[in-house]
Amino acid sequence: MEAALEQVRKLATLSEDGRREAMVALHNLAYSLETHHDTIHRYGHAHLQAAIVQVGIDLKLFRYLVESDGPLTIQQLSEKTGAELDLLTRVLRFLASIGAISENDKVQYSANHITRNLAERLVEAGLSHYFTTAASQYQVLPDYLKDTGYKNPVDENKTAFQVAFNTPLNSYAWFATHPVQLDHFNTYMALRRKPVNTWLSVYPVEKEASNWPAEKGLYVNIGGSIGHQCAQFKEKYPHLQGRVILQDLSHSVANALPTHGVENIAHDMFEPQPIVGAKFYYLRAVLHNQSPPNVRRVLDNIKAAMTPESILLIDELVLPEYGVSYIASSIDMTMLSAFASTERTEAQWSKTFEEAGLELKRTYTYYPTGYESVMDVRLPSAKSTNGEIK
Ligand SMILES: C[S@@+](CC[C@H](N)C(=O)[O-])C[C@H]1O[C@@H](n2cnc3c(N)ncnc32)[C@H](O)[C@@H]1O
Repeated sequence: MEAALEQVRKLATLSEDGRREAMVALHNLAYSLETHHDTIHRYGHAHLQAAIVQVGIDLKLFRYLVESDGPLTIQQLSEKTGAELDLLTRVLRFLASIGAISENDKVQYSANHITRNLAERLVEAGLSHYFTTAASQYQVLPDYLKDTGYKNPVDENKTAFQVAFNTPLNSYAWFATHPVQLDHFNTYMALRRKPVNTWLSVYPVEKEASNWPAEKGLYVNIGGSIGHQCAQFKEKYPHLQGRVILQDLSHSVANALPTHGVENIAHDMFEPQPIVGAKFYYLRAVLHNQSPPNVRRVLDNIKAAMTPESILLIDELVLPEYGVSYIASSIDMTMLSAFASTERTEAQWSKTFEEAGLELKRTYTYYPTGYESVMDVRLPSAKSTNGEIK
C-alpha cells in the first residue's frame, strides 16, 4: 500500500495536471470504498468541518502551530488562544480527525501540510468568506429551489442570498454595511490568484498599447476591488503611456491602495462609462457575479464608450463543455445562489458578447487547470493599434 501511494505521490509532483488528476483519482477511490455510514458522515458533517475550521482560524490555532518550533501541548495552546482547556481538547480532537492538524500523542499537537495551508492569509480570508457569507446561502438553497419550482434563477434581487440574510439588497450593497464580511471578501479576492498566474503572463499588452496617447485611458479596471491588479499592471508596464484607472463602488474605492500613477474612481458600472475610448477595459471575476440581464447592461455601457481601438478584456473562468472540476462547478453553484449568475463555456461567452453587439476575438488561457482565461473582445471589425484588421 505505502509503495503504491508513493508512486502516486511521485506522479503528482510531475505537473499541476498530474497533481489534480491524482487528487481526483484518490478521492474517487476513497468514495468507492465508502459504506452508507461513511457517505452519511462525509456529506452530513461537511458543514461541521467548515464550522470547526473557522473556530481554529478565529482562535489563530493554525498560526500558533505553524509558528511553533515543535509540538504544542493543549495547555500551551489554551494559554495562547484563551480557550478553555476542556473545550479546546474537543476542538483539537476534531481537527486532528479531519487531518487539519497532527496529533502527536494524547496532549501534543503539531502543524502538518494542511495546517500550513490553513495558516495562510489567503486561506483564512477565503474560508472566512465562505463561512460567514456563502454558507448561509447554501443552507437555504434546497427550500429556495423548491419554492421557485426548480427554475434557473435569473433575477439578482430574488436569490438564495436575499432569503438567507432576509434582505432586499444584493450582496455588494449588503457588504457596504457588513465591513467584516467585506474585508474577508476583498482580501480573498485580492490574494486568490498569484501574480504569476494572471492575464499579464499571456496577453500581448505592449503589442496592443504601443504609442498610446498619454492623456487617454490605457487600462480601466472595472470592478477592480481595492486595486491590486492596477498595481500589478503599473508595476509590469511602468513605461506605457496612458491613464491607469481603478473603478469600483465607493465603499471599495474608499479602501483602495494608493498606488502611484493609478487613479481610484468610484463608479457604478450600471451607469454610463465615463472613460471614453480607453485602450483596455478590463473586468476580472465581475461578470460572473451578475445576472444575465445585468451582464448585458454592463456590456452595453462599456460598448458605448469603446472606440474601434478599444479592447474589452474579460478575465473569467471559461468552462470546458464537459468534465468540469469540483472547484469550478462549486463556484458556479455559489454564483447561482448569490447572484442568479452563472459560469460559462466559451460558446456561452461568445453568445453573450454577440448578443451585446461585440465579438470574441480570442481566448488566452493562463491557468488551464482552473480554466482561468482572459477573453479579447472588440467591436465588430475593430482595428488593433497597429492598424491591422483583426
Ligand atoms: C468578485 S469581485 C472581483 C474583484 C476584482 N476584479 C478581482 O478580480 O479581484 C467583484 C467586484 O465587482 C465590484 N462591483 C460589484 N457591483 C459593482 C458595480 N455596480 N459597479 C462597480 N463595481 C461593482 C465589487 O465591489 C467587487 O470588487
